Amino acid sequence: MRLALFGPPGAGKGTQSMLLKKRFGLDVISTGNLIREAIQEGTDVGRSVEKYVNAGDLVPDHLVRDLANQAMAEHKFDRFILDGYPRTTTQAKWLREFLDAYKAPIEAVISLKVSPEAVVDRLSNRRINKDTGESYHMIYHPPPSDLDPALIVRRSDDTPHAIKARIDVYRRETQPVEEFFRSEGILIEISGEGEVSDVFNRILSSIEHIAELELV
Ligand code: AP5
Repeated sequence: MRLALFGPPGAGKGTQSMLLKKRFGLDVISTGNLIREAIQEGTDVGRSVEKYVNAGDLVPDHLVRDLANQAMAEHKFDRFILDGYPRTTTQAKWLREFLDAYKAPIEAVISLKVSPEAVVDRLSNRRINKDTGESYHMIYHPPPSDLDPALIVRRSDDTPHAIKARIDVYRRETQPVEEFFRSEGILIEISGEGEVSDVFNRILSSIEHIAELELV
């Protein structure tokens, strides 16, 4: 099974990817996480992309493509969920060519629809456990009370300025990619609003035709 989760910042791509991972035993390939790891490790790629991420801009296409392609190859081109890739039309075309060469096309792109107000609420209330990467929402999914407060941090691009930039970039560069997936016949649009479990159930219903043989 090869899926992609698509949607604006804060749509719930990471949250839902983790639930799909648990349900189907799929690996999550998150270009955002790969980029943050590269920054933390201080690699050449990490050093060159930090300024884009902190400003809420997209990282240059070819750098993200290399990270994503390497991860898909490591997963032998199967049983993965792409989280946050592709997000430009150029990336989408490269991805199709790359996977076609291995006869391993993406089977469904799940596009999570959320209002701009929900995006701002979710990102401004998000906190991360800096040790485990676990994500919280200060109101709907607060960190456990026994967790050391020093471990609870805000992501560097969850500042008001970067959130606004990410939303603008999404509208300008990423949203148009939906048209590409629609024309390929693999776009599934669902509401990303409401309880996390409700969103997950909607996703499960929408991929029943792909998923029924692959439960683990
Ligand atoms: P990335 O890490 O992919 O960030 P993003 O797309 O902005 O998405 P987020 O991780 O912010 O949100 P999400 O949709 O995963 O939501 P989540 O589940 O965490 O990318 C970061 C940066 O890396 C980019 O800005 C760019 O610079 C670069 N980059 C990455 N990929 C790239 C690419 N392909 N090309 C170029 N550059 C790239 O949820 C958010 C919050 O909401 C959490 O607190 C969560 O607990 C809460 N929440 C989730 N679901 C619900 C719900 N149903 N109800 C209430 N709260 C909820």
